[in-house]
Amino acid sequence: MREIGIGLLGFGTVGAGVVECIQKNGNLIAERAGVRLVLRKIADVDLKRNRGVKVDRSILTNDAMSVIADPAVDIVVELVGGTTIARTFMLEALRLGKPVVTANKALLAKCGKEVFAAADKNGTDVCFEAAVAGGIPLIRALSRGLVADNIESMHGILNGTCNYILTKMSGEGVPFYEALQEAQAAGFAEANPGLDIDGHDTAHKAVILALLAYGVGIPLSAMRIEGIRGLAREDIEHARKLGYCVKLLASVRRIGNEVDLRVSPVLIQAGHMLASVNGVFNAVLVRSDVVGETLYYGKGAGRRPTASAVVSDIVDLARKLATGSTDRISPFPRSIKTGKVHDPRQIVSRYYLRMSLPDKPGVLGRICAVLGRNGISIASVRQTDGVKTGRHVPVVFVTHSAKEGSVDAALRQIDAMKMVGSRTIRIRIEDFE
Ligand SMILES: NC(=O)c1ccc[n+]([C@@H]2O[C@H](COP(=O)([O-])OP(=O)(O)OC[C@H]3O[C@@H](n4cnc5c(N)ncnc54)[C@H](OP(=O)(O)O)[C@@H]3O)[C@@H](O)[C@H]2O)c1
Repeated sequence: MREIGIGLLGFGTVGAGVVECIQKNGNLIAERAGVRLVLRKIADVDLKRNRGVKVDRSILTNDAMSVIADPAVDIVVELVGGTTIARTFMLEALRLGKPVVTANKALLAKCGKEVFAAADKNGTDVCFEAAVAGGIPLIRALSRGLVADNIESMHGILNGTCNYILTKMSGEGVPFYEALQEAQAAGFAEANPGLDIDGHDTAHKAVILALLAYGVGIPLSAMRIEGIRGLAREDIEHARKLGYCVKLLASVRRIGNEVDLRVSPVLIQAGHMLASVNGVFNAVLVRSDVVGETLYYGKGAGRRPTASAVVSDIVDLARKLATGSTDRISPFPRSIKTGKVHDPRQIVSRYYLRMSLPDKPGVLGRICAVLGRNGISIASVRQTDGVKTGRHVPVVFVTHSAKEGSVDAALRQIDAMKMVGSRTIRIRIEDFE
């Protein structure tokens, strides 16, 4: 049986998972794919750390470049992470015409165009099934299963850390920072969780999804990105009473020649499929013109789910190398253009608004007048029995559909009013229309 040599860069969480997966299921893979995967070299900074898997120490090295250049290495697996040295490694492997497997969403979101162009130029592939939604075979679903469809929209819960925190907050009523600490103690959140809780990790994945579905590269700086940092337990509780749950959602939709691409916490009706996605699980709802709606669900991160996706890419590439096929299998469109983000101010949605207002006659009339002047009509108002802050009480509004720009303009006027206690909390209601 043909042997295909693997060079692994980064022997961390996912790297060790890849080694474990190949050791455990190597025979099964060989039987299914007709090729044998052989780990030729592993590069990491620290060669002494226990990685939880046994390897022949002679294949370990500090020198990633020597792994890439090794003639016995047919496929380079980049699991170092980050956007600096990993970029250098990837570009060097591609320059040598070696296919690359990566889980590095940050790098693909930032430098995808450059990396894919390098693969194209050298007639080789970059595969990245693990970069979006970890263990869920979403990239394959989009690039193969739905190749005959126009993708109309994708809505995804793409960050397990945030979903774990939100599930804890809503299920057990714990405050944000306590839920974050629990996520860290359980190993679901990094010591520095900013990338996750501020929405950037989800944004990286959303950019990759837009690239796959529409063939456009969207600069991260053009996206509206809101995370869940400091989200109040109070809002989750009000939402629950109104029949909603709060999720951090990536939305990717085509609007004419533009893409509506955003990440933010949203309210989702409790009966919706995505509302029941809890804990560290991810899910993506895809709407496309021929098949209609399809839903993809599973573990979006972690050593084993991510390793499973990485190894599936390795197997695809190994099969290609073994058969000598000249077909490109990288799942990206043939040409990548720079995409334009649809102006978020023009997006029409319903909104949840929590204002801090004095409990006095005439107050609601003044608020409704401002909302009305900005073309926002109110579906419901609820003065809650929540905690009174000084002379202010929380008042929750649900609006009918309105432009985001109008809602923001109205809130600027409202929050500038002397009688208002603190900045209004606004959360979009996602109706998946
Ligand atoms: N963990 C997940 O669940 C998950 C899920 C989806 C995607 N990913 C992606 O997978 C990639 C790897 O993530 P991970 O969680 O496995 O990270 P990790 O545990 O930090 O592993 C990265 C490893 O690479 C090593 N490294 C750093 N610089 C190196 C260099 N110059 N040469 C060789 N090795 C080097 C690191 O060593 P030091 O620790 O000494 O720096 C570390 O052992 C990232 O792109 C990440 O975004 C991870």
